[in-house]
Amino acid sequence: AQANVGVVGLAAMGASLARNLAHHGNTVAIYNRTPKRTDTLMEQHGDEGAFVPSYTLQDFVDSLIPPRTAIIMVKAGEPTDEMINALADLMQPGDIIVDAGNAYFPDTMRREKEIRARGLHFVGCGVSGGEEGALKGPSMMPGGTEESWQTLKPILESIAAKAEGEPCVTHIGANGAGHFVKMVHNGIEYSDMQLIAESYDLMRRGLGMSANEIGDVFEQWNKSELESYLIEITADVLHEQDKTTGKPLVDIILDHAGMKGTGTWTVQTALSLGVPVTGIAEAVFARGLSSQTALRQGAQAIDFAGPDGSLQLSEQERESFIEDIRHALYASKIVAYAQGFNEITTAAQEYDWKIDLAAVARIWRGGCIIRAKFLNRIAEAFESGQAETSLLFAPYFKEAIEQAQASWRRVVARAAQYGIPTPVFASSLSYFDGLRADRLPAALIQGQRDYFGAHTYQRVDKEGTFHTLWAEEGRPEINA
Ligand code: 6PG
Repeated sequence: AQANVGVVGLAAMGASLARNLAHHGNTVAIYNRTPKRTDTLMEQHGDEGAFVPSYTLQDFVDSLIPPRTAIIMVKAGEPTDEMINALADLMQPGDIIVDAGNAYFPDTMRREKEIRARGLHFVGCGVSGGEEGALKGPSMMPGGTEESWQTLKPILESIAAKAEGEPCVTHIGANGAGHFVKMVHNGIEYSDMQLIAESYDLMRRGLGMSANEIGDVFEQWNKSELESYLIEITADVLHEQDKTTGKPLVDIILDHAGMKGTGTWTVQTALSLGVPVTGIAEAVFARGLSSQTALRQGAQAIDFAGPDGSLQLSEQERESFIEDIRHALYASKIVAYAQGFNEITTAAQEYDWKIDLAAVARIWRGGCIIRAKFLNRIAEAFESGQAETSLLFAPYFKEAIEQAQASWRRVVARAAQYGIPTPVFASSLSYFDGLRADRLPAALIQGQRDYFGAHTYQRVDKEGTFHTLWAEEGRPEINA
């Protein structure tokens, strides 16, 4: 045995991860179910570091130094279960199986329990950054036992992205915590992407700007507090021309957004935990609507009338509206993170995870898809204890939102006038206004519930549970 770590599954992500490990002084055992991928990796990249190729799972396990660490990167679902079980059959107590795919956290919790019962460690590890991240430095979110972390720490730190010199990996918490946090990362990613898309739409259809001009705007924005990977790549996408037609590529790409499920899981989980993640939910639904072909074609055929005419803006008004969009984007983005972190906090209570939110914000500063300059601010807010209940309560974010709010309201109002959908801008603003309100119309809902279903209500002026006898003369109130 000579390898200190192994990778099973050598498709794009697995192969990149294996190479990254080899580039950083690890001796890497590699195995793929079909030998072709193993051969290709050895032929094309075998000289990049120390690889130990195996063609049977037994040889793979034998080539690992105990306690053995095997990272699996295979298709989610059944293939993952099969590989975990096959490995567990060959490995020894104390060995570690790491699932680096995008698994659904309840699956990770189940697998961890099963594998732990067999004396092995199972680590569900979120990995973000796509193929390039896997090769050059991803952000990683491992769950599992503290003991397994001690073995994994130097290995994962060696390959992680670095943000201000710090490796973007930390032990998130027991069993499913790592995959949970990765799931919420993706939910926030959905929100972020949709907000950028809404901003684009407002400039494109609202202000009639070209894709190229909007690309320039995003390039400028990337020098502001919005500086982030997603803003940066958006500028690139908008500047790209289609090779065959010469048109902006964004005009040629079919406007149906795909999704593989992590955003949906984030929302489903939030619903069962009772956490309002309105921005993320709207972002998932917006993708869903975009892909409803029959519904959209039907609406086109019916030719609904839209708003009257277009809003004519002077050059100066246009400039200031673009600034408004930038502020609205920042405010809504803060809300998306606040909601996502609320979901993590609530799940941590539910599942008994001890999650250091500041550490999560810090490991998201580099390598991952949502990496952004303002994550430093988020980390500081959690560190200072000012964001315990909500990120929005930390003075920096309170001020940022307050400063953005006039712009934010103008953007949502004008979008409604233009007839341009802004589900995440609008829902984020409603969330903020819902939080701010000293009285919510929920009182009326309680009255309605009590009326039709005797569901009772509480009063603001005395203790107890009450029910109004709505059908009786004089509407007597009783202590229910
Ligand atoms: C990442 C990404 C990654 C992936 C998702 C995108 O952090 O590297 O989130 O996990 O790109 O598969 O999900 P959709 O296909 O659902 O957009």
